[in-house]
Amino acid sequence: MTLILGLESSCDDSAVALVTSDRQILAQAVVGQNAAHQPYGGVVPEIAARAHVEILPTLIQRVLDDAKVTIRDVDAVAATAGPGLIGGVMVALLAGKGLALATGKPLIAVNHLEGHALSPRLVDPDLDFPYLLLLVSGGHCQLLEVRGVGQYRRLATTIDDAAGEAFDKAAKLLGLGYPGGPAVEALARSGDPKAVPLPRPMVGSGDPNFSFAGLKSAVQRAVAADVHRPEDIAASFQRAVVDCLVDRTRLALSSSAAPALVVAGGVAANGAIRSALADLATQEGRLFSVPPAWLCTDNAAMIAWAGAERFAAGLCDALDAPARARWPL
Ligand code: KG4
Ligand code: ZN
Repeated sequence: MTLILGLESSCDDSAVALVTSDRQILAQAVVGQNAAHQPYGGVVPEIAARAHVEILPTLIQRVLDDAKVTIRDVDAVAATAGPGLIGGVMVALLAGKGLALATGKPLIAVNHLEGHALSPRLVDPDLDFPYLLLLVSGGHCQLLEVRGVGQYRRLATTIDDAAGEAFDKAAKLLGLGYPGGPAVEALARSGDPKAVPLPRPMVGSGDPNFSFAGLKSAVQRAVAADVHRPEDIAASFQRAVVDCLVDRTRLALSSSAAPALVVAGGVAANGAIRSALADLATQEGRLFSVPPAWLCTDNAAMIAWAGAERFAAGLCDALDAPARARWPL
């Protein structure tokens, strides 16, 4: 059994976790920065990076104390090295390098997307490779065949906005503030998903990719027309996103023999999306796995777990591992 310390600061959540190779989460902490970014309607990179610098050391100490261990008990330090807002990425990566250097323990530079991609295996011991992954977050919307640790085949990506970005933009248009996903989902509960006719970009297309820009523009027009109730716009928008995700995932499943469908990333916290994809998996005769909502949105348990998987595979990194704003899987 190995003990991995995970560090995450690539967007607007500062997070630290201690996870074992046998799937125990000994302690974890996530501190968001919503209040700091709210006035700007989105994440301000400079504010985010400074906030990570202020909070991360305290969180590391708190998590070690909660787990009643010291840094000497840790077998390796896993830190997100990208992709993300570069000023933020550098904070956790440099903290991880400092701890690795001071203790002589190995550093594991984790791709944040690999953290999301492997996260379902932290809570689902029966989920074996390969699986088809729908990765839906604020920055990404991809379909990947996950064949093993570090082995990914990308089947589709978005040609414009990510799914989470679409939720955040729709929320902004509806005056719901940032982050938009949970607010749109809450408002959609009291709305009629058939009330507002909205497009489903790419649905039915043989091109496997996603597109959400046209949907955003249609929401903009619906809001400006001022004839629909906001809850109906929210519900209709959410239904349109669900239809797009289901259609694209169905197409990807037709070219993948993977026995399981998995959905991960912040948008996978959405109840309507979770249940629609569970239904799709049943229809297509695949197993289905989705992590609990807290593990879908950004956290360090998934980074520590990806670190545990990489450590077991002998994949450690040198102290000159670069921080990367862009880093495709
Ligand atoms: O994975 P994540 O926490 O950060 C990134 O790596 O991007 O994803 C954040 C995204 C945001 O766009 C947020 O609005 C969206 O996930 N999100 C949701 C929900 N919760 C978070 N979208 C729809 N419904 C939700 N319940
Ligand atoms: Zn993320």
